[in-house]
Amino acid sequence: MKIIRANSYQDMSRKAANLISAQVIMKPNCVLGLATGSTPEGIYKQLIDWYNKGDLDFDRVTTINLDEYVGLDHSNEQSYWYFMQKHFFRHINIRPENVYVPDGTNPDAERACRAYDYIIQRCGGIDLQLLGIGVDGHIGFNEPGAAFELGTHKVRLQESTIQANKRFFAHEDEVPKEAYTMGIKTIMQAHKVLLCASGTAKAAIIREALYGPVTPQVPASILQMHPDLTVVVDHEAGACLPEDMD
Ligand code: PGA
Repeated sequence: MKIIRANSYQDMSRKAANLISAQVIMKPNCVLGLATGSTPEGIYKQLIDWYNKGDLDFDRVTTINLDEYVGLDHSNEQSYWYFMQKHFFRHINIRPENVYVPDGTNPDAERACRAYDYIIQRCGGIDLQLLGIGVDGHIGFNEPGAAFELGTHKVRLQESTIQANKRFFAHEDEVPKEAYTMGIKTIMQAHKVLLCASGTAKAAIIREALYGPVTPQVPASILQMHPDLTVVVDHEAGACLPEDMD
């Protein structure tokens, strides 16, 4: 595990974007596992900036997103599909046919999730998986108690996640209660994992996930076992980490 400290959200975004850029430059046809949420927004902004400067080319890149709300279609502004178009895809030269997000409109969970696992397998696996972390330790929508051995599957969202995400919706009742998410097994199979965290609210869970016991009660704790994990934390999110971690 490599922990990189950043001194601000912007610095965290830039450092993480640098690592993603390195992946794209080293392997132009790489498969990036991507995430939504406020944490990666700045990373996407930075990547767009470097793309506009001619430093990055996404023409041969494939992206596979972590998760999607069940029941929201592409036109819904709260869908993760919409988020990704708005914050990243429509600003770069990625090919639409190389972009994957779980199909939240498919009511057949088994079929939707198996299809997603097949896509990941057909793409040859994920080269680099970008992750945020929930205040309860979730990664993707793998909530506390999630089985480590699952591939893509349907989950019921925890109350704490609904509370954390309601800020994006007009009313709390509109927050979907279910999602399709890559499982812990899917995430652990990525060749590299890049976990990013920003802000005071993440400080305790970042310490617990990286230095506490590996337990399904803290889904992100399994990342301690990943052979190629890089963590980028800003000053606040890294506040509870041991000083001498370098
Ligand atoms: P955030 O969400 O980036 O909006 O904090 C992270 C997560 O819930 O995985």
